Amino acid sequence: MTVVWGIVGMTIGVLLAAQLFAPALNFDIPYLTYSRLRPLHTNSVIFAFGGCALFATSYYIVQRTCQTRLFSDKLAAFTFWGWQAVIVSAVITLPLGLTSSKEYAELEWPIDILLAIVWIAYCINFFGTLVIRKTSHIYVANWFLGAFMLTVAVLHIGNSMAVPVSMFKSYSLYAGAVDAMMQWWYGHNAVGFFLTAGFLGMMYYFVPKQAGRPVYSYRLSIVHFWALISLYIWAGPHHLHYTALPDWTQSLGMVMSIILFVPSWGGMINGIMTLSGAWHKLRTDPILRFLIVSLSFYGMSTFEGPMMAIKTVNALSHYTDWTIGHVHSGALGWVAMITIGSVYHLVPILYGQPKMYSTKLINVHFWLATIGVVLYIVAMWMSGVLQGMMWRAVNSDGTLTYSFVESLEASKPFYVVRFIGGLFVVTGMLIMAYNCYKTIAAPKVQEDTIDASLAIGGAK
Ligand code: HEM
Ligand code: HEM
Repeated sequence: MTVVWGIVGMTIGVLLAAQLFAPALNFDIPYLTYSRLRPLHTNSVIFAFGGCALFATSYYIVQRTCQTRLFSDKLAAFTFWGWQAVIVSAVITLPLGLTSSKEYAELEWPIDILLAIVWIAYCINFFGTLVIRKTSHIYVANWFLGAFMLTVAVLHIGNSMAVPVSMFKSYSLYAGAVDAMMQWWYGHNAVGFFLTAGFLGMMYYFVPKQAGRPVYSYRLSIVHFWALISLYIWAGPHHLHYTALPDWTQSLGMVMSIILFVPSWGGMINGIMTLSGAWHKLRTDPILRFLIVSLSFYGMSTFEGPMMAIKTVNALSHYTDWTIGHVHSGALGWVAMITIGSVYHLVPILYGQPKMYSTKLINVHFWLATIGVVLYIVAMWMSGVLQGMMWRAVNSDGTLTYSFVESLEASKPFYVVRFIGGLFVVTGMLIMAYNCYKTIAAPKVQEDTIDASLAIGGAK
């Protein structure tokens, strides 16, 4: 389902990208308007694509590294079907315009409650498996995954508190600036824990496995973990610079965001240096290339983020496409690429195959994804900085040099380039779906004949 929802969510992204330079593409159908499809895009790529990837890989990693079976297969099945039910509810309600209007938390209260129940079941299953582990040590990937699960539970329940007035309408329990602060405490930590800590758990397992090398520095990975989780939680107010939020909270958010650069790069370097002595594998192994390039994008977005958190920089970047470029260097470059690499590693193992059906097709996918992401983010950086500069340009008499419409006209060519980049990325995903289908449909190979290098964790 990770691959299926990836294709759905990214295709909606491509349609949105097209609507931004050809608005007629909403065909005057209310369900296809930009305002309704945009939250559908964010929900389907983050929670459906990213969420399914996190469920699948965390259940796998915790069993391998704890050398035990899952705490409960029934709970695992419940979380799978429950999560799909949440996604399908989103796919129905968001185009209907039913929304709580909180970004990344748009779903209305009955779906929020279902989501909370599924998430708690997930936590019980994961931590239950840790309790019945056969190893004394808890491998660092599980620390990241555990922190991701607990924090997302607290964030979701805290931010979704609302007073229902009908079956599909509720109002937030919080008011005014407090509501905004709760929302971005949630929003930023959805980035920090859902889109970062969870995927770092994935990284700490699949990068060493695919490279066939131990983590570069285990000590650094522990420092990375504690520093990251203690800093992220403070950074939310950088989304609310120059707003009604008390000024000191904005400055606190800014300072914590700048410090956050250090553990983020520590983790990135730890992942990339895991390849020490195995750099040559990058030449022949496109899966490893996906994993390592994703870390480079992680490094890029976690350099850019702290910079954008500086108030004076944010005064230029906020409201512009620079933010959108930053989002996608994190979301497409880091989150999607680490997921794709991990899924290519996992699918043959789960379906009893020695390797993916076609390594050549993985290679084609790698280049399509990389070129697509670069086209996307470079176009958005250029259009973002251009917008920021045009909006603040003033004539000697104090009047604005450019009208808003002029800045839109100037952005148009970049929107076309972003659309082309998106097409590259989706084409890669379709090739991935074909490759996965051929791998899954191939006759099952006896488990003991599978290449020993693929037998993970020694826990047979
Ligand atoms: C083919 C790939 C993709 C394309 C073409 C695409 C396109 C878009 C477009 C056009 C927007 C709206 C920008 C705006 O309002 O100015 C958007 C927003 C967004 N997308 Fe994507 N996207 C893609 C993949 C992804 C992935 C994989 C993720 C996450 C894992 C993601 C996360 C987001 C988020 C979080 C936003 C909202 C950003 C904000 O509000 O600042 N996208 N995307
Ligand atoms: C050290 C790490 C990071 C810091 C300090 C940081 C900081 C920032 C800042 C300052 C903004 C702009 C806020 C605004 O002007 O409204 C932003 C937006 C955003 N960032 Fe990051 N970022 C970091 C890493 C990441 C990563 C790795 C991802 C994705 C995986 C990501 C996803 C997002 C999203 C989705 C938004 C847009 C939120 C919205 O307005 O809808 N960030 N980030």
